[in-house]
Amino acid sequence: MIYITEEQIQNIVNMPMALDVFRQAYIDNTKELIYTGGRIVMPIIDVENSGQWLTAISKSQPYFGSKFSSVFPGNLNKGLPSVMSTISLYSTETGELKALLEANYLTAIKTGGSAGVATDVMARKDASKLGIIGSGLQAFTQVLAIQEVRDLEELHVYDIKPEYVEGFIERIKKVQNRPYKIIAEPTADACVAASDIICTCTTSHTPVFSAKALQPGTHVNAIGSFTPYMQEIEDEVVVMSSRIITEHVDGLWAAAGDVIIPVEKGLVSKEKVVGSVGDVLVGNVIARENDTEITLYESVGSCVLDVAIAIASFEEITK
Ligand SMILES: NC(=O)c1ccc[n+]([C@@H]2O[C@H](COP(=O)([O-])OP(=O)(O)OC[C@H]3O[C@@H](n4cnc5c(N)ncnc54)[C@H](O)[C@@H]3O)[C@@H](O)[C@H]2O)c1
Repeated sequence: MIYITEEQIQNIVNMPMALDVFRQAYIDNTKELIYTGGRIVMPIIDVENSGQWLTAISKSQPYFGSKFSSVFPGNLNKGLPSVMSTISLYSTETGELKALLEANYLTAIKTGGSAGVATDVMARKDASKLGIIGSGLQAFTQVLAIQEVRDLEELHVYDIKPEYVEGFIERIKKVQNRPYKIIAEPTADACVAASDIICTCTTSHTPVFSAKALQPGTHVNAIGSFTPYMQEIEDEVVVMSSRIITEHVDGLWAAAGDVIIPVEKGLVSKEKVVGSVGDVLVGNVIARENDTEITLYESVGSCVLDVAIAIASFEEITK
């Protein structure tokens, strides 16, 4: 068994490589060449904190794996990350543990990359204004990924803690791939109203922007909510969306309060969830029909992508 550190991962995994791995994993997932097992979410001591276990197995490569993440939002006040993850990669031939990977960076790359692939197939081709709500680790990789799939002209940023935004902008300036303008917004709604693509990447359990701020033709990536009880976007955003796509449809019905709650209220039908990003990539479903509809990518995390990028990292390090 080898132990792979965050530093080793950061030296070999970059966003363009990760986007290629995720596109292929999404396609393989629709062919059942890689698929997820179960998911366990365990509240830890108080409602804010949880532990989550996700699993996946590949049939085209000799590995299966699990990812464990602790989600402790209060850690930010202790100078620690709010989400901490590790991936265990096992051999499908012997069951041996082949590698244990520190996976905070990989998780963030996965979350950004999955939204990057979704944005590529769902957003308007001319979308050039990206709005980011939340300015933590996931927000950073949303920008890394989306700047690879659209030619950005403006990046709008809002965080409930304005003191985080300046540092975030400084970090983005070091990695931006073209000279787009970066604007700190005073409110979430101002951020939404100015953007063609919105990413919500917060730890909030309640909606972070008002649906009426959304412009026609906007694509929304809802990233932060991960339990059936959390809602990072208003019911009305789901109602206004023409279609919803996710990483994995069963995973959405297990975890996405953003969609589960308006469906349970009878505001929208389940059929609004038309499929996975993989379904779009292989041509089973259409992601967008015109430039005025609002589209929603509801991300709940899929261990398929975690295991796919862990395999790619392991094979790169051991080749
Ligand atoms: N979908 C996925 O695959 C996936 C993967 C990893 C993490 N997540 C989730 O994404 C969320 C963000 O993760 P992170 O690692 O970036 O966390 P983080 O703690 O680094 O950043 C969260 C940011 O959101 C801000 N925030 C909180 N409430 C807000 C509000 N109402 N309006 C605006 N900003 C607000 C915080 O101030 C903070 O800057 C978490 O809930 C996490 O569980 C999802």
